Amino acid sequence: MKINISDANITTIEADAIVVGIHEGADLEGVAAVIDAATGGAIVRLRAAGEITGEQYELVTLLAPAGIKATQVLVASWGAADQVDRAVAYRWAAAASRKLSSKKRPTVVFCGGQDWEADLVSAAISGIFVGSHGQDLYRAEKNQQPFAEVHWSGGDTTEMERGRIVGQSVNLARDLVNEPPQAIYPVSFAEIAQKVAGDCGLDCEVWDTDRLGGERCGALLAVAQGSVQPPRMVVLKHNGGSPGAKPLALVGKGVTFDSGGLSLKSSDGMLAMKCDMAGAASVLAAMQAIAQLQLPVNVVGLMGLVENMVSGNSYKLGDVLTARNGRTIEVHNTDAEGRLVLADALCVAVDMGAERIIDVATLTGACMVALGNDVAGLMSNNQDWCDAIAAAAERCGEPVWQLPMFSLFNEQIKSDVADIKNVGQGRWGGAITAAKFLEEFVENTPWTHIDIAGPSFLEKSKPWCDAGGTGFIVKTLVEIASSGNHGIGG
Ligand code: BES
Ligand code: MN
Ligand code: ZN
Repeated sequence: MKINISDANITTIEADAIVVGIHEGADLEGVAAVIDAATGGAIVRLRAAGEITGEQYELVTLLAPAGIKATQVLVASWGAADQVDRAVAYRWAAAASRKLSSKKRPTVVFCGGQDWEADLVSAAISGIFVGSHGQDLYRAEKNQQPFAEVHWSGGDTTEMERGRIVGQSVNLARDLVNEPPQAIYPVSFAEIAQKVAGDCGLDCEVWDTDRLGGERCGALLAVAQGSVQPPRMVVLKHNGGSPGAKPLALVGKGVTFDSGGLSLKSSDGMLAMKCDMAGAASVLAAMQAIAQLQLPVNVVGLMGLVENMVSGNSYKLGDVLTARNGRTIEVHNTDAEGRLVLADALCVAVDMGAERIIDVATLTGACMVALGNDVAGLMSNNQDWCDAIAAAAERCGEPVWQLPMFSLFNEQIKSDVADIKNVGQGRWGGAITAAKFLEEFVENTPWTHIDIAGPSFLEKSKPWCDAGGTGFIVKTLVEIASSGNHGIGG
C-alpha cells in the first residue's frame, strides 16, 4: 500500500472513496465544509435529519454524491471537538479504513484535521494500515482488501513515514498471532525474526537447544521438552545509541502453542492458544519499528520460544528445575509455563547489562478476570519505570492498569522443596503471583511486566480492528524507545 501526500482539489480528485472527518456539534470546517458546499449541503442536511449525529467513530456513506468526482464520501466523526488525541486519530482512521476495505477500493483519500500536528497524522496513518488488514490469511475470498494507494490530505505530514512503519509493525505482530500454530512454531518464528532482522538491520542471534543448555536455561528447556518442536531463543540488538550505553531490554513470551502440558487445558481453553506468543510477536514488531525509525538508543529484544505440549517426555508436576540464575523451581502446574520461559529470558536480559527491562506476556487468565479483555496489567519493581510506561501507553491509546506487588504475595510462591514454586496458593491474585515469580529473575534492574492476556487477542471484531491478534503494546514499546531517557522524569 502506497501512501502519498495530496493537495489535489477534493471535489475533482478521482478516487474510490474520500474519508472526511467532522466534529460532533461543531460547525463544518476544512474539507467537510468544501464537500458540503459542493454537494449542495448534503452533510448539513443529513445532520439536520439526524442521520449524521457526529458520535465518535460514526461512519456515514454518501454514495456517488453530485458535485464530487469520487465514488463515495465517508463522513467519519471524531466526536466532541476537544477530543482528538493520538488514540482518537488512530481509531478514527482505522475504523474508516476497516469499513472501506470490505470491498476492493484501490484508491482512497483520507482527510485529517487541518490543524493536526505530526503525531496525530502519524497515528492516523498507522490506523489506516491496521484497519485495512484482517485475520483472513487463509480465506480465498478476503473479508478485507488493502488499498493500492492512499492519498493523505490535511495537517502536518512530516511524520507520515513513522505512521507507516508503526502501522506495518503492528500488522506484523497481528499476522504472527493470526498464523496457525502449525505454521508458527519456535523454529519458524526464529526464522522470521532472522529475516526481519536482516531486512531492517538488526543484529540477530538464535540460540538452539544445545546453546540453551550451555546457557543454563533449564526452566525454558523443561517446558519445551514435551514437544517435538525444539525451542529457540532469539536475541535481537539495535545499536542506535552510544557504544557501551546500557540497553533497554524488551522480553517477550513466545509460547507458540499452549496446550497446558500435563496440566492439560480444556478444549475451549485451548482454542485460542496460538495467541500465546503475542508477547514475543510484539517484541519482534517493536524491534522492527525501532530499527526502521533509526531511534538513537540501544535496545535488545529477547524472545523465548517454546511449544507447551503433552508427551511421554513432558515435564511433570513435582519436577524441580534450575533456572539460569541458579534459582530452583518446583513445578506445581505445567500450564504456568510462560513464567518459566520468561525466567530464563529475564536472566539473559540482566546478564546483558540491561538498564531497564520490560517483559510482555499473555501470562494469566487471572489478569483478564481482574481487568477485563481490553486492559493490560502492569506490575513492576520500580514505580518511576512503571509510571513512564503507563504514560507512554496513555499517549498511544493502549489501556493499561497497575496491579500491586506487595511483598505479602511472596509467601504464596514459597516451596517446601525448592526455592520457589511456579504457582501461587489457589487462584486469587494469580496475575500478581505470576509477576512475583518473575521478579525473582530480574535482580535489581528496574523492570515492568505487562500482562497482555486480555487485549492481545480479540474474540469479536472492534470497529477499528478485526478479531484475532491486535498487536497490542507495539505502539507503546516504540513510544518508550522514542522517549528521551525512556520517558523517566519528564
Ligand atoms: N497462556 C496462558 C494464559 C492465558 C489465558 C492467555 C487465556 C490468554 C488467554 C497461561 O500460560 C496459563 O495457562 N496461565 C494459567 C496459570 C495458572 C495455571 C496458574 C492460567 O491463567 O490459568
Ligand atoms: Mn499455560
Ligand atoms: Zn501460556
